[in-house]
Amino acid sequence: MRLPFLGVALLGLLLVLVTPTHSNHTAGYEGATKQILQRATDRIRHVWEITRKIFVQLTAKGKSQLGGTVLSSKQEVEAETYRLYYELAANLSVVPVSELNDPLLRRLVQRMAKLQLQGLRPKDYEQAKDLLRQIHSFVSGPMVCPHDDCSATGQLAMVPQIVKRNMYAKQYEELLDNWKRWRTAINENDVAKSTFKDYVRLLRKAATYNGHVTPSRTWYLNYDTENFQAELEAVVWEIMPLYRELHAYLRHEVQAAYPKADTKSDGAISAPIMDQILSQDWFPHQFFRTPHQGKQHQLPSVHRRLEEVLVTPVKINRMAAEFFESLGLFVLPNTFYDRYSRRMSEEEAGVDCKSQVYYFPPEVALRYCPKLDYKKMMQIHGTMAEIQYHLYKMRLPFGLDTEPCPGFGAAIAETVILASGTPRHLNRLKILLNNSLTEEQSLNRLFRMGVHTLIAVPQYFINDKFLVDVMDGRIGVKEYNCAYWDLQDKFAGVQPPRPRLNKDFDLDYKFYRGLNPETSNTKKFLAEILGFQFYRSFCLASGQYRPGDPTHPLHNCDFYGSPEAGKKMHDMMELGASRHWRDVMEIATGERKLSGRGILEYFAPLFTWLKERNKQLDIEPGWDADELCRRD
Ligand SMILES: *[C@@H]1O[C@H](CO)[C@@H](O)[C@H](O)[C@H]1NC(C)=O
Ligand SMILES: *[C@@H]1O[C@H](CO)[C@@H](O)[C@H](O)[C@H]1NC(C)=O
Ligand SMILES: *[C@@H]1O[C@H](CO)[C@@H](O)[C@H](O)[C@H]1NC(C)=O
Repeated sequence: MRLPFLGVALLGLLLVLVTPTHSNHTAGYEGATKQILQRATDRIRHVWEITRKIFVQLTAKGKSQLGGTVLSSKQEVEAETYRLYYELAANLSVVPVSELNDPLLRRLVQRMAKLQLQGLRPKDYEQAKDLLRQIHSFVSGPMVCPHDDCSATGQLAMVPQIVKRNMYAKQYEELLDNWKRWRTAINENDVAKSTFKDYVRLLRKAATYNGHVTPSRTWYLNYDTENFQAELEAVVWEIMPLYRELHAYLRHEVQAAYPKADTKSDGAISAPIMDQILSQDWFPHQFFRTPHQGKQHQLPSVHRRLEEVLVTPVKINRMAAEFFESLGLFVLPNTFYDRYSRRMSEEEAGVDCKSQVYYFPPEVALRYCPKLDYKKMMQIHGTMAEIQYHLYKMRLPFGLDTEPCPGFGAAIAETVILASGTPRHLNRLKILLNNSLTEEQSLNRLFRMGVHTLIAVPQYFINDKFLVDVMDGRIGVKEYNCAYWDLQDKFAGVQPPRPRLNKDFDLDYKFYRGLNPETSNTKKFLAEILGFQFYRSFCLASGQYRPGDPTHPLHNCDFYGSPEAGKKMHDMMELGASRHWRDVMEIATGERKLSGRGILEYFAPLFTWLKERNKQLDIEPGWDADELCRRD
C-alpha cells in the first residue's frame, strides 16, 4: 500500500487545521497540536498491538507454521510506523513552535517534526530500504569463495563465517587472501561503491526535507549539535596517548606472530591483522600474548562455576534483574516471568544469539538467548537495563518515550555490562572465590578489555567520519579509497596490506553495517564513550571507586546495592527524550560533553604498564604509514 503524496495542497489544509480561531493563540495552537498528537497516539497503540501479537505468535507452541504470519506482521509494523512518523512530521511541521507555552509540547513538536530516512517520500523510502537490504547482503550474504574452490564449503558470508575463520587463521597469507577476496567479491563492477553512492544521495535528500543545508545535520539529528563530529574527534585525540602505547605493544607482538607480514618497525599495522586482533578480544587462545604469561596469571575460568551456580538461563535472568532491584529500581513482577519472558529456540538463536526486547506498553517482553556463558551473562545484564529503561520511559507521552539520542540507552546498558563482569560482582554471584584478582591477572584482564574497547573506538570514528565527510561533500567520489586510508593512517595507525588504488573500495564490513541508522557507527561510538562516563560517575557515587586509591580502582567496581548510583540511573531513565541529551547526562555525570575521561581512568593501570613495557623493549609508539594508496 502506498501513501498518497502529501503535497502543498494538503499542507495548506493543515495550516487551516492548526490555525486557531479564538483570540488566545497559544491556547488554540496548543489545543490543535494536542489533537494531532492524540490521533498519533491512537495509531501507535495499534502498532503496539501488532507487536504484542508478534511476540505471542513467536512464543506460541507449534509456531513453525506461523513463519509467514509473523513476517507479514513485522512488515505491517514497519510500514505502519513509517506512515505514522511521516504524516505526523508533516502535520507538526506547520505548528508554530514559538507560540507554544508548554515546554514538553514544544519539545515533542520539535522532535517529531524532523526525521531521518523516514522523512523520505514513500518511493524514496522504499529505495533506501532496498539499498540497505543489499548492503546487508554484502556483510551477511554468501559472497566469498575461499581458496578458489567452493565445492567443499559453498560461498561463505563475511559474518559470521569469514570472521570466524580469520579468528582461527594462523597464516598471514590466509588473512590477506580473505581480506582481498571479500572486497573483490562485493565490489565487482563497482557494485559496493555505487550502492553506497545511491544511498548517500538519499541521505542528502532526507536532509533537504529537514531544511538542513549540511546533510550531516540530519545524520546527527537528535544529537542536536552544530558540528557534532568535532566533539567526537576531540574524544579520539583525548584517548590517543593510550591508544598509541597499546598500538606500539601490539605491533611488537605482531612481528613475533607474523614475521612475514610486511610491518616495519616504525610502521602502521596491516588492516587484516588489526581485524584479527579485534576479533580475538575474548578468544581463549589469542595469538597476541597478554602482558603476564604463565598459568598462575591466566584469568580464572568461570565457565564451570557459571554452570554450577546459575544452572539455567532463567536463573541468570533473575540474577540480572536482581541487580536493578539492589539499586532501588523496578522489581519485575512474576507476571513478567510467567507471560512475557520466553526462551528462543536453539536454531533461531543461531551463533549470534541476541536476546530481543519487545515494547508494547504497558508491557515489555523478552525473548532470551538459551546459551550460558560469561559473555551472555554480561549481555543479559545489558538487556535487563533496556527493559528497565522501557518501563520508566513508557510513562511519557508518545514521541518522548524514547532515549534522548541514539546510543544513550546502550550507554546505560554498557555500565551494567561493565559492572557485571568485574571480579567483585562474579564473587558476589559466587562464581569467583575471591573478590579481586592478583595484580598480574588484573592487568591481563584490563589488557583484553583494552583491546576490545580501545581498538574499536577509533574504527567507529573513522567509519562515521568517512560517511559524514562523503555526505557533506568533503570527500569526492574519485578519492574515496585513498581518503579512507588517510583516515586509517591518521586515527588508527592501520595501513592497507598492499598497494591499493583509488578505484578500489576497501571499507570494512563494520562500515556497511553502520550505514543503517539503527546500528550506526555513531551510535556505537557514543554508547562506548558515554558508557564509560556513566560508569565512572555511578562508581564514584557508590563509593567503590576512589580516584588515586589503588585499593578502590574503577575497573573492579560493580556499584551493586548503591542507592546513590540507582538514583542517577533512575533519574536519567525517567526523563526519556523529554530533555536534551546533554541535560540528561548532566544529571548523572555533572558534565555536558562527551569525554574520554571514563576510559582513561578505567585503563590507567594498563596505561602505566604499557608505557614502562614499551620503554623496556625500546619500542617507539606512533607510526609512519607507507604511502600505499595511489591517487591516479
Ligand atoms: C492563553 O492560553 C495559555 C495556555 O492555555 C495560558 O497559559 C495563557 O495564560 C492564556 N493567555 C491569556 C491571555 O488568556
Ligand atoms: C495528519 O493530518 C491529516 C489531515 O488532517 C490526517 O488525516 C492524518 O490522520 C494526520 N496524521 C497524523 C499522524 O497526525
Ligand atoms: C584474595 O586475593 C587477595 C589479593 O590477591 C589475596 O591477598 C587474598 O589472600 C585472596 N583471598 C583468598 C581467600 O584467596
